[in-house]
Amino acid sequence: MTIGVYPGSFDPVTNGHLDIIKRSASIFDRVIVAVTEDNNKVNLFSLQERYHLLREVTGNSHFENVSVEMFSGLLINYVREKEASAIIRGLRAVSDFEYEMQFALMNKKMAPDVETLFLTTSTEYSFLSSSIVKQVASLGGCVRGLVPPTVEDELILKYKNKKGGR
Ligand code: PNS
Repeated sequence: MTIGVYPGSFDPVTNGHLDIIKRSASIFDRVIVAVTEDNNKVNLFSLQERYHLLREVTGNSHFENVSVEMFSGLLINYVREKEASAIIRGLRAVSDFEYEMQFALMNKKMAPDVETLFLTTSTEYSFLSSSIVKQVASLGGCVRGLVPPTVEDELILKYKNKKGGR
């Protein structure tokens, strides 16, 4: 049984992420989408919220062999614990490459038997990131078609509450 781990902060999950998850699910017997608290980032959604959104948007028949989990600490330890053979990462543009290469090589150094598999993003999502979605949504712009509808609703709610709280 081949297991792939697709890690990320998913703050929030976008249609670009979903595309990578869907494609990974046809390569591996099982895909674990692994969401973590990234200590170097201030996230809009809590870890629990990001986990629940991921569960919701992968909860249909397209994603039968996909599960969502939370992890903390070093990714490579988690990957070993799950007995996965590969880490899956999406590559959008050259700008992603340097960081992703460093990330992959460091993980390879710690666990030579675990591969990193890069999937190039589908063209329609090549410009898409959680950050740009948040920026647009925070300023009242429309993100329909870029994130699943439930995520769009949560973004609107989040920024409405933030404004209300000021
Ligand atoms: O979606 P992101 O924010 O680009 O994902 C980055 C993430 C969370 C996958 C990465 O920061 C990570 O693996 N964090 C866990 C801690 C870790 O293992 N760091 C060393 C990586 S070489």
